[in-house]
Amino acid sequence: MSDLTTKLDDLHRRFSAALTAAEDERALEQARVDYLGRSGEVTQVRRAIGQLPPPERPAAGKTINAAVASMEAELEAAQSRLSQRAFDADLAQRIDVTFPAISPRTGAINPVRRITEDVASYFTRHGFAVVLGPEVEPDYYNFDALNIPADHPAREGFDSFWLTETLLLRPHTSPMQIRTMQQHRPPVAILAPGKCYRRDAVDARHLFQFHQIEGLLVAQDVHFGHLKGMLTGMCRALFGSGQNVRFRPSFFPFTEPSAEVDTTCPRCKGLASQCGMCGGSGWIELGGSGMVHPNVLREVGYDPDVYAGWAFGFGVERLGLIRYEIDDIRRYIDSDPDFLRQLA
Ligand code: DAH
Repeated sequence: MSDLTTKLDDLHRRFSAALTAAEDERALEQARVDYLGRSGEVTQVRRAIGQLPPPERPAAGKTINAAVASMEAELEAAQSRLSQRAFDADLAQRIDVTFPAISPRTGAINPVRRITEDVASYFTRHGFAVVLGPEVEPDYYNFDALNIPADHPAREGFDSFWLTETLLLRPHTSPMQIRTMQQHRPPVAILAPGKCYRRDAVDARHLFQFHQIEGLLVAQDVHFGHLKGMLTGMCRALFGSGQNVRFRPSFFPFTEPSAEVDTTCPRCKGLASQCGMCGGSGWIELGGSGMVHPNVLREVGYDPDVYAGWAFGFGVERLGLIRYEIDDIRRYIDSDPDFLRQLA
């Protein structure tokens, strides 16, 4: 019996040493086969029980079972120690999962684009199509067809970049009215956003490249009330449900009558006498509008006795100044990520 204990102790000690020395899974498996496997050393000891006198066999069996249980536990511990070590090594080499996460720097949509999309989504909901056109235009589309002949003083209001005698960078999106009407029979309902250019000195209120959104609706029985309704809806969609619009008489060669459009000051809601945004007037100017001039309709082959239309042209940066209370129009082109992120 003590013979058996001695033998098992020795065996166990060698088994433990083999586990400690094992550098990988294979070495562990080898130790298991050598000692606990079907022809391993422990198994051979167990077989020898048969040669003991019968009364001693149960006790011997128990001793062996206890030794095997303890060895198996050690093997398991060694296995998890090894896999932990492998995991740690892997981590050290590749990635520290305890390192605080670095949130990715995402970009932000430029406010010009955001506003354009919001205006477009309002008008497309009402059946308007979005159309895009060239930034380099012949003077015909920019002026002549819009009832601004060559000698008309209104041309001076559009201080343009001329590329040739007749080609220029468009100073407004109104040429898209002509292009659209020449391609389609009425009714037409379009929104034409895009870049425009004017020879303006850059300051807090002016850029030489900016964006406009042109709107045009031509059909039968269209009147000024439609325009007012659509623009009121647009302002409420953009600036909030309390907005109203008002028209001030104005002049544009391509509309008659013409009007400047104002909307309720979104900051003071028309209530403050000393508002920094509207100067206390309670109104903020959006841009020009009017009923399409009969000469313009005639130019594209529409009969002004049958069809009527309204149009408007707003500056996108201007809408942004109002919506985001931006103090300086140059911020749009500074590419300052902190500024853009604020508006995201
Ligand atoms: N195109 C004009 C400008 O840039 C703005 C404008 C006024 C557009 C009246 C229109 C309109 O469509 O009806 O100054």
